Amino acid sequence: MNCVRSQLHSGFGYYAGFLDRAAQEAILATLEPLLASAPFYRPSMPKTGKPLSVQMTNLGSLGWVSDQAGYRYQATHPVTGLPWPAIPQALLDIWAAVSGYAPLPQACLVNLYQQGAKMGLHRDENEEDRDAPVVSISLGDSAIFRLGGPERSGPTTSLKLTSGDVVVLGGSSRHFYHGIDRVLAGSSSLVQGGGRINLTMRVVRRPG
Ligand code: SIN
Ligand code: FE2
Repeated sequence: MNCVRSQLHSGFGYYAGFLDRAAQEAILATLEPLLASAPFYRPSMPKTGKPLSVQMTNLGSLGWVSDQAGYRYQATHPVTGLPWPAIPQALLDIWAAVSGYAPLPQACLVNLYQQGAKMGLHRDENEEDRDAPVVSISLGDSAIFRLGGPERSGPTTSLKLTSGDVVVLGGSSRHFYHGIDRVLAGSSSLVQGGGRINLTMRVVRRPG
């Protein structure tokens, strides 16, 4: 692994090119049967029920879901009713390499960005463990990631995330606003059918 961690903000880590092409392909191959048993679905917004532009599924004992009732973690896929598949070791190894946090993630949200999908500025705040970092892996098309601060109205910076990049929201950046402005369609050949897959690992319940 030949990769430099850039610390752009308090606790925010950016590992450009953490995974080389072979490692990216290996992770996608590992994901394929898991995504077949826990397929992407389109979540909807709390209250309005409006569909999100991002399709989602999860790995792990808990998965993040959103529907008219609200945001929450649950143990089963909302469409199939089955438990989420386990987080593969290759992803846990990435967590161990970059998180600096001994407890393992219980959730890995898998986001699929196709055809103009984006993610509005938000904070990850449905986890009980407020100290554990969030580790995010980008695969496929590049994306413009926006990072703000603790207040929604504060200044933001943008960062282009390309396939194989890993981001760590740790320290105070753990609770910073962030989102995806847009995905650069056709910028990578990694994901069949195009698009971007983002894997976001989180510790949900406090360990012990
Ligand atoms: C997220 O904040 O859940 C996803 C961020 C990303 O797609 O890079
Ligand atoms: Fe997030």
